[in-house]
Amino acid sequence: MQDISEHEAWFADYVAHERSLEHEDPGPIDLKIEHTKRVLDNARVIVGEEDFPSDVARACLLAALYHDLGRFEQYLRYRTFKDRESVNHGLFGVRLIKATGCLAQESRDLRHLVMAAVGLHNRFALPRHLEATIDLVTRVVRDADKLDILRVIDGHLAKRPYNPTVVLQLPDDPLLASREVIFAALHDATASYGDLLSVNDFRLLLATWIFDLNFASSKKRFIDQGHALNILKPLPDTGIYAEARRHMLACLQATGS
Ligand SMILES: [Fe+2]
Repeated sequence: MQDISEHEAWFADYVAHERSLEHEDPGPIDLKIEHTKRVLDNARVIVGEEDFPSDVARACLLAALYHDLGRFEQYLRYRTFKDRESVNHGLFGVRLIKATGCLAQESRDLRHLVMAAVGLHNRFALPRHLEATIDLVTRVVRDADKLDILRVIDGHLAKRPYNPTVVLQLPDDPLLASREVIFAALHDATASYGDLLSVNDFRLLLATWIFDLNFASSKKRFIDQGHALNILKPLPDTGIYAEARRHMLACLQATGS
């Protein structure tokens, strides 16, 4: 496995400094530090299962480590993680990688790959005709990122009342169900945020992320970690969600076995 310990040490110093500049509430910064560690762990698992050339494997790990580099300065400057109200944190991260020189010791090709993946990791969908290696590295980061987002959301959905930000301000109303989200689940497609009507829809949408994962090992981890099941199971097993719930449980079981 690639040794990126010098980069991990650089990152630890960087975030310690950013944290020292926060005098009110370092909690959100700590969450992003923890998130970064877990995304890197997830990327290591994916890379460990795939047979990538060593420079690609290295790019995957570095892109995972630096994917949210923009988050810390974003929070310090704008007091939010909402890109729409501040900056695109992926592109901001690329600017910081250049400004800090944290990749200066790496080859030009590798710098290019890592910066491309950091800049693309938070796009809703990837551009169609990306250069193959950029596409691959970005997909590793996106899978690793999704796996950890699922962990965080599972933690929040386990207790009521729901945090409105986490549930995207959606109402917790069992009478509201989106036919589009249910249709997507029944047809093995990833549901769209724009179709969500309720927290139950959100639960179903998160389970459909299984169809958006790119690597067998991330699909397996998605299921083995148990978060997808925890999120899906509270859906009512009668009425409008029953069939989609049953179908998604079967999909998760089939992928996990
Ligand atoms: Fe991100």
